[in-house]
Amino acid sequence: MRILVVFYSRTGNTRIVAEELAKVLECDVEEIIDTKDRSGPLGYMKSGRDAMGRKLTVLQDPVNDPSSYDLLVIGTPLWAGHVATPVRTYMQQQENFKEVAFFTTAGGSGYDGAFQDMEELGGKSPLATLGVAEKEIKNGSYQSRVAEFAKKIR
Ligand SMILES: Cc1cc2nc3c(=O)[nH]c(=O)nc-3n(C[C@H](O)[C@H](O)[C@H](O)COP(=O)(O)O)c2cc1C
Repeated sequence: MRILVVFYSRTGNTRIVAEELAKVLECDVEEIIDTKDRSGPLGYMKSGRDAMGRKLTVLQDPVNDPSSYDLLVIGTPLWAGHVATPVRTYMQQQENFKEVAFFTTAGGSGYDGAFQDMEELGGKSPLATLGVAEKEIKNGSYQSRVAEFAKKIR
């Protein structure tokens, strides 16, 4: 089975989970790159507004063609209870998903809003979902949760 882990990360948390997942699954990994500057406090505010307004953005062209993979494992930070704008844009632009699984990272909890958005955008129920809190990334406990998630989708 060909698997692609695809993720967006503004400040690095989702990247840490994505890279661990790709290592465990021994699969390709692709970062979604936004052309909009989202750095700093202003970037934070713009991002919250974009997420709440279900806005789209302009992405750099992806390197990998998702339709050539059997499973896409898509990762997003939670933004104002929703999927992050660059991931919304990616999922809207790439339509041919075979199987999907989702993961999100968040400051607290409330992951379901992001998973619901992603299910609607992909038009598919995920094989599994994983929500990781920032504190689990900091204390390292995300690694065992990633391993469990990988077992469910492999
Ligand atoms: C615009 C914005 C909105 C956010 N909204 C939430 C939220 O609703 N709930 C929450 O728990 N964390 C929220 N966060 C925190 C992020 O989800 C969390 O820090 C995440 O791990 C960041 O991932 P990243 O480092 O990959 O960008 C928000 C962060 C940003 C930038």
